[in-house]
Amino acid sequence: MVSRVIPVDPFDLVIFGGTGDLARRKILPGLYRRMAAGQMPAEARIIGAARTDLDRAGYQAMVREAIEEFGDPKHAGDAAGVSDFLERLDYVAVDATGDDGWKELKGKMRDGMIRAFYFSVGPSLFGDLAERLKAHKIAGDESRIVVEKPFGHDLASAKALNASLARYFDETQIYRIDHYLGKETVQNLMAVRFGNMLFEPLWNSQYVDHIQITVAETVGVAGRGSYYDKSGAMRDMVQNHLMQLLCLIAMEPPAKFDPDAVRDEKLKVIRALDPVDHHEIVRGQYDAGADGPSYREDVEDPKSRTESYVAMKLGLSNWRWAGTPFYLRTGKRLKTRASEIAVVFKDAPHSIFGPDAGRHRNILTIRLQPNEGMELGVTIKEPGPGGMRLMDVPLDMSFADALGDEAEEVPDAYERLIMDVIRGNQTLFMRGDEVEAAWAWTDPIIEGWIDRHDVPKPYDPGSSGPDDAMLLVHRDGRKWRDIRA
Ligand code: BG6
Repeated sequence: MVSRVIPVDPFDLVIFGGTGDLARRKILPGLYRRMAAGQMPAEARIIGAARTDLDRAGYQAMVREAIEEFGDPKHAGDAAGVSDFLERLDYVAVDATGDDGWKELKGKMRDGMIRAFYFSVGPSLFGDLAERLKAHKIAGDESRIVVEKPFGHDLASAKALNASLARYFDETQIYRIDHYLGKETVQNLMAVRFGNMLFEPLWNSQYVDHIQITVAETVGVAGRGSYYDKSGAMRDMVQNHLMQLLCLIAMEPPAKFDPDAVRDEKLKVIRALDPVDHHEIVRGQYDAGADGPSYREDVEDPKSRTESYVAMKLGLSNWRWAGTPFYLRTGKRLKTRASEIAVVFKDAPHSIFGPDAGRHRNILTIRLQPNEGMELGVTIKEPGPGGMRLMDVPLDMSFADALGDEAEEVPDAYERLIMDVIRGNQTLFMRGDEVEAAWAWTDPIIEGWIDRHDVPKPYDPGSSGPDDAMLLVHRDGRKWRDIRA
């Protein structure tokens, strides 16, 4: 298989928050990797912008360290490559809420280049940055701005953010990142659904018994407790990442793979979501374990009621999915890091093999991480003598096996999304109305918890979550899939 790296057009990318954690961990090492892959042209320029008083050399030194610490080891050791990348960097100290630095930034922008502005800063600064970019005529009608989550913490704040950006930029210029949409398998979900004849006819409540979406993490919230404790798993993961996965798995086929066609279909899914009964949601909070403190110790609040885990049963009121439950769960400090979507098909209507053959079901598993790939469980005859006994075997397609050495070069989510910004392709970014619809569905759930003074159920670190989450599925005669790497 030959991968095709198509270089993007030359650009000036300004990273506000260019000295921050996301820039150092993801954005800058990711851009270096794109350069090493030949996707970033020689004329491209990256300008770090932040409050910190640094000169160009100081910024280059900081980025060199970031690449050494967080970069892909395969390229980070290439001294000539790293130096080449650093040559494309510049820096300007900018006051997001004042006047300092803007003139200098304007002076650094080149004519005839694509201009992109990455707001890798807290949402409270989005409006200020947008206003100054326009006031100083640094951004024009063709420029793009990239904004990070959290995009609001409820519907009202998301609307306010959308309005503050819309004052200066058209929706076609705004790229709202949900890094889950940049993951290789997430896009494969669309390829598998809409590129094959095999699955789509069965992709509905007539043939699908239920769907499980699991995003399990082993990390806790130490180090980011002050953000996380105000957010919780519902705002941090469900409203955005899990919602996006649900949309892609449940949406109708768009007429074409273009940004608005895809996003229109996703929006319809969110709008078709039933309100969730509070008995259909389980919140959890991790306890202390042998290898780490409890959630409450991590966030330094002995009374915190924020959830580090949530499991829920959802329904969609539309023709395709009425009657098929979607079970979602996500949590921190669980037994292993594993994210997958499992489409569990219904039993065959009648077993010609009699009761001894047992119960067999087809399950299509889409693994997001680790070991990205797909697995389809099919039922076959147990080999050898002994009569007609049935067993389930996986038809397994790991992307690493399929791609061989090229799997190493698959861009990570941020790399892919930044290249899409430069290309001007919004398909994998959230539109303003999508984000608002997701909050409109989320808000009443969170308000319900507050009104009922809901306290999350404790769970052991290294487990699969609270027992009540198991019951949520068991009482429907189903069970969660094992969380495994
Ligand atoms: C982030 C959340 O958006 O996604 C984090 O804020 C979470 O809490 C992370 O850990 C998970 O991302 P990934 O790519 O590691 O699954």
